[in-house]
Amino acid sequence: MIGQTYSSYRHKRSFRKFYYIVFFVVAFFLWHSESLSRGKHESPQVTAPHLAPRASPERPDQAVPRVVDVYGHHVHNRESERAIEAVRDQQVQRRPKPPAYPNVLVRNDDPEIRKEAAEAPEELDESDGHGVDSIDAIRDSVGDAVEHAAKLAQAEDDDTASDSEHAAIGEDRQIRLSGDIPRKLDDTAAKQRVEDLLNADHPSKETQKEHTEADTDGEEPAEAHNDNTKHPIETLKEQTPWSETYSFPSWKECESIKDKADGLPDMFHMPFEVAVTDVKLEGWEDEWISKAHYTGPHLPEPKIDFVYNWVNGSQPEFVKTMLPYELNSSLNDPDGVWIKSHSSNRYREWNELRYSMRSVEKYAGHFANRIQILVNAFQNYREDSSSPITYGKQRPYWLRDDLEKVQVLSQEEFFGPDERKCLPTFDSLTIENQLYNTKSETDRLFALSDDMILGKPHAASDLYSPLFGPTLGFKDNAYNTLQPPTEKDAERFGEKPFLIYTSWLLNRRFGARKRKGQVHFGHSLSRSITKEAITSFPRPALRSAFQRFRGETGFQLYSWYVIFHYTMERHREALLWSYIMLRSDANEDGYLSWTERKKILRDLSEGMNNKSPETFRRRIYYRVADYLQEAGLESPKVNTDVLWTSLDGPAMIKDLDCDAFDTEDCLAPGFSMPSSDANARSPVFSSAAIFDRVARQSPRCGDCLIKLVLNRRRAGLGPMLPHPMKKPEQRATVIKALVKYQYTIVSPDALFYMVTDAEQAEHLLLKPYIRHKKKAGQICLNDDVVTTDKAELDQLQKVMSTLFEGLLPDPSSFEI
Ligand SMILES: *[C@@H]1O[C@H](CO)[C@@H](O)[C@H](O)[C@H]1NC(C)=O
Ligand SMILES: *[C@@H]1O[C@H](CO)[C@@H](O)[C@H](O)[C@H]1NC(C)=O
Repeated sequence: MIGQTYSSYRHKRSFRKFYYIVFFVVAFFLWHSESLSRGKHESPQVTAPHLAPRASPERPDQAVPRVVDVYGHHVHNRESERAIEAVRDQQVQRRPKPPAYPNVLVRNDDPEIRKEAAEAPEELDESDGHGVDSIDAIRDSVGDAVEHAAKLAQAEDDDTASDSEHAAIGEDRQIRLSGDIPRKLDDTAAKQRVEDLLNADHPSKETQKEHTEADTDGEEPAEAHNDNTKHPIETLKEQTPWSETYSFPSWKECESIKDKADGLPDMFHMPFEVAVTDVKLEGWEDEWISKAHYTGPHLPEPKIDFVYNWVNGSQPEFVKTMLPYELNSSLNDPDGVWIKSHSSNRYREWNELRYSMRSVEKYAGHFANRIQILVNAFQNYREDSSSPITYGKQRPYWLRDDLEKVQVLSQEEFFGPDERKCLPTFDSLTIENQLYNTKSETDRLFALSDDMILGKPHAASDLYSPLFGPTLGFKDNAYNTLQPPTEKDAERFGEKPFLIYTSWLLNRRFGARKRKGQVHFGHSLSRSITKEAITSFPRPALRSAFQRFRGETGFQLYSWYVIFHYTMERHREALLWSYIMLRSDANEDGYLSWTERKKILRDLSEGMNNKSPETFRRRIYYRVADYLQEAGLESPKVNTDVLWTSLDGPAMIKDLDCDAFDTEDCLAPGFSMPSSDANARSPVFSSAAIFDRVARQSPRCGDCLIKLVLNRRRAGLGPMLPHPMKKPEQRATVIKALVKYQYTIVSPDALFYMVTDAEQAEHLLLKPYIRHKKKAGQICLNDDVVTTDKAELDQLQKVMSTLFEGLLPDPSSFEI
C-alpha cells in the first residue's frame, strides 16, 4: 500500500520535472534572444498542484486495539517503529546544489527596469556594511551544505512520509504576559481599523451573550472589562485560587459550551498591530532583524518555566473520581475493554517526575524559573453521605510544600472561564491547549511530561534565546490535509488524527503545504504565542475543551503542532504583509500602481542578479553561538546542530527551487505592464489581493517572492521591511512581529525510547547509559509495557530504578 502511493507520487514529480526542464530551456532561449513575448507562457510553477497528495501512508497496526495510558497517550508498537527506522535510513538523499538564477521570469518590457536592476541602486537603509564575508567563504564548504540540505529536506520535497519518533525540544523568549502591558498602538488609524475588526458582528455574538448570562453560576462574570471580551475565546486573567469546596461543573454546564463552540468561527485573524502589543523593543532589534548585526548591550540570560503534565493514576480517589466520566465517555464499550486497556499502566510507578525534576535542577537550574506541575483534582472519600463533599488535588508524595518555586496547579486553577465548564479532563491534549493560561512572571516555558529527563548540562539558549527565539525540532513525517478530515482519518493510529485535523486548519488559515510533525520531547513555548495560536481557531479550541479522554473525537487541536507551525507561518506572513502592504504600497492607498510595481520588479531583478542565495547569503544558522556571544549569552550546549534560523528567512524557503518564479502568475496578470492599468484601476493590483495571493493562495509564490527579494542583501530581513524614515511606526510594528515570531530549527540531541520489558530496558538503557556512560541531551522514556506478569513487572521496576538512580542519584532541593 505504501509503495503504491509512493510510486504514483514519484511519477507525477518526475513528469513535472520534465515539464520544468522543457519550460526552462524555452524560457532561457527566449530571454536571451530578447524576444520574450508576453502571454504565451504557461508556468507550471503555479498551476501545477505543487502540493503533494496527503502523505501519511496507513500502517497496518491500526487494527490492533489501541492501547493508551491513563492520560490517553497512545502506546506505540515496536514492529512499526522498526519498519520506520528502515524507511528513514533509506531516506537520506543527497540533493544537488541549486543553481544561480538565470531562468527566473521577471517579465517586463521596460528597459528602464532592467537597467535599474542591473545597476542595483544602493538604498541608504539597507546597506549591509559587511562586504565580502571571508569567514563564510571558509565555512560554507560544499560538503557542509549538502549535509545540511539532506538533514532538513524541504517538506515539499520529501517523498517519503514516514512516521518516525525522534525526540524533541522546544522554544523560548521573553515577552511579558499580556495582562500587565498597556495596549498601545502605533497609530490611531491602525487602532481604529483594529477596533472595527474586533467589534464586527459575527454569528457567535448572540450565542455567546446568551450563555454567559445563563451559565455564570458563581463564576466571575464573563463580560469582563478587559480586551479579552473582544476575542471570541476569553482567557483567564488571573489564576483561580484553589478551594477544597470547589465542585465539578454539572453535565449541563459542559453541554452549554458545546453549543457555544458551534456558534464560533473556525478561524480568527489576529491583526499584527494587536498581536505585538505585548512586545517591547529595547533598541537593538531593528539592526538585528534587518541586517543580522548585533550592536546592543549584553543581554541577561532568559528565565524559563518548566511545566509538567502529571497524573498519579494509582491513587484510588482519583480512579473513583474518573470512573463516572469513563462510563459516560463515547469511547466506553459494553464489555469495558476500553476502560480496562487505558488503565493498563495505572499501577506502575517509576517516580519519573522525581528524577525529571532532579535533572532540571541539575542541568538547567541556573535558568529555571518556576516549576509548574499540572494535576487533576479528585473527590475525597466521604465518611458518610451527610458529610460535605470536599476535593483535593494530586501531589507527588515526595514534594516539599514550602517552595515558592514549585507550584502544583489543578486544572480548576488555570483553565479559562469557558474551558473549565467541562472539567475534570483526563485528556492531555485538552490540558496542553490550556497551558497558556498558567500564570508566571516570564512568558517562556518548556512543556514536558514526567517521562522526559535532561541528560546533560543545558544553556538557556538550548531552549530559547532573545536573538533566535525558541528552538523547534521536527520529525520527518509531514502532513498536508487538503480535504476535510473524514471518520476514517479519525480512526488512524496514534497522534495522526490530530495531526491531520490540525493540518487541515493550518492549510485553510495559511495556505496548503506539507508541515512536519514536531519531535517527541519537551516543547519550548511562549505563553503569548500559544494563546494566540490556539485562540486563532476559536471553534476547534473550544471544542477541544470538552474532550475528557483522548480520542473521543479524533479531531482535536494538536497543541504543539499548531503552535510550532503558527509561529513559523506568522513570521512568514509578517514579512509578506510588511513587503506588500507597507513597503511596496508606498502611499498606502491599497493599490500597487505602476510605479510601485516597478519597484517590486526591480527588487526581484536585483535579487536574481546576485548569485543564488545558497552561496550569496551569509548563513546565520552556522553562527548562532558567535552571535549569542556578542550579546553576552551562553552558547547552546546540547542543541548545537542548528539547521536554520528565522533570520535566514522563513524556513519554507530553505532548499526551495525558485527558478521558475513568474511575476504574472505569482503576483497578478499584467503585473509587469504599465498598460494593464493605464486607463483605469484594475482590482488585480489591489495590495490586499496580492498579499492574500502570496501569503495564502499560492504559498510557493510567497516563499519564492521572499527568497528572491531577500537575496538582494547578504544577511538579514531588511529588504522586506518598510522604509525606516518614511514609515517608522509601521516598521516598528513589523520588527516587533519578527522578534515575537522568530525561531530556530534544530536537530535536537534527544532520544526517545519505548520501554517494553525488563530485558529491553536493560539492554537499551541500563547498559549504555550506566555501564558505558552514554550521554544524551534529553531522554524520553515512554511507558509501553503490556505485560501484566507480576515477576516481569518487578524485574522491570528494578531495572528502571537502577537506571534513574544511576543517572540522577542526588536528591533535588524539591524533595522532602
Ligand atoms: C453522564 O451523562 C448523563 C446524561 O447522559 C448525565 O446526566 C450525567 O450527569 C453524566 N455524568 C457525569 C459524571 O458527567
Ligand atoms: C500515587 O498514589 C498512590 C496511592 O495513593 C501512592 O501510594 C503513591 O505514593 C503516589 N505516588 C506519588 C508519586 O505521589
